[in-house]
Amino acid sequence: MTEEISNTPEPLPHKRRPRYAGKNPRRFEDKYKERGSDTATIAKVIAAGKTPAGTHRPIMVKEVLEILAPQPGNTAVDCTLGYGGHAQQLLPLLLPGGHLLGLDADPMELPKTEARLRALGFGREHFSVHRSNFAGLPQILAKSGRTGADVILADLGVSSMQIDDPARGFSVKNEGPLDMRLNPQRGLTAAALLQKISADALSRLLVENADESYAMILGAALAGKSLNTTTELADAIRAALPPRSQEEYQLSVRRVFQALRIAVNDEFSALDTLLRFLPSCLNPGGRVAILTFHSGEDRRVKKAFFTGQQQGVYADISEEVVRPSLEERNSNPRSSPAKIRWARRAAAEM
Ligand SMILES: C[S@@+](CC[C@H](N)C(=O)[O-])C[C@H]1O[C@@H](n2cnc3c(N)ncnc32)[C@H](O)[C@@H]1O
Repeated sequence: MTEEISNTPEPLPHKRRPRYAGKNPRRFEDKYKERGSDTATIAKVIAAGKTPAGTHRPIMVKEVLEILAPQPGNTAVDCTLGYGGHAQQLLPLLLPGGHLLGLDADPMELPKTEARLRALGFGREHFSVHRSNFAGLPQILAKSGRTGADVILADLGVSSMQIDDPARGFSVKNEGPLDMRLNPQRGLTAAALLQKISADALSRLLVENADESYAMILGAALAGKSLNTTTELADAIRAALPPRSQEEYQLSVRRVFQALRIAVNDEFSALDTLLRFLPSCLNPGGRVAILTFHSGEDRRVKKAFFTGQQQGVYADISEEVVRPSLEERNSNPRSSPAKIRWARRAAAEM
């Protein structure tokens, strides 16, 4: 007797759609349509001035491309690859013959971005990916056998994927562990930093990293405390402050989060190192553009470019910052605080 083999597949067990309260999902885990490939949902989210979960909308792309003027055959570096939004636009302009080195400190998002850009057809000959802090740019260039780049971009801070993922602990909007590390395999979490820092050191950090006016009160209230989630930190900030409007509370909460994130990731020292090495990483005539999102970053870039121009390293620098258009700010409110400064390295002496 031969065994009868049926070609009819077993019916799949019925899977219930995840439920969420209200018309639209609010929690990151429930935004499965945005995180998948439901193009209609993604278009709707963008039209509402939001960023689809698990993605990032690149800022001032047109302005960045105009400033950097990438040419076929150029070597370009994207110091902050993120979702690859800027890189995706830069890459075709480097062809034929050019190469883009994409750096990012985040080991969680980087492989996803590499896969996305490879799927768009950018092979290893034209696009390489480096899990590295941008402070190590000279070493990355040397290892790849290059003496410099014609185009360098740095879009500072964190991506929307990082901000919106509650597990990363960057935002008060989502309850999550108080982590904030760009590389979750390294260094102290924000919770551990808070527990070991002194009140004085925390107050200084709140002023230096975020111009927080209630730095003394908050330093005393938060230092040494065991605050393990984003919500616990936000509640402790509100409890420590004198009575204020809801808006003012929110501003202080945002500033404390920003100050801690900068400290956890040593962001200013990475930026200072990059700015110091930049002239030696640029080929003669090479262009650099830096997008900053708050005064602590912008001050540093402005000063480094000005000093470089005085010393004759840069032939030209931005006189004024470039800002997003009103249209871009309306369509993507996360672009609002962005400023671009640029510099052009002097051409080689003949
Ligand atoms: C604003 S996002 C960049 C978005 C990107 N331009 C795009 O269009 O998708 C900033 C990225 O820089 C990375 N980053 C921040 N500081 C860094 C550092 N010191 N070294 C390397 N990467 C860094 C973050 O992990 C994040 O992915």
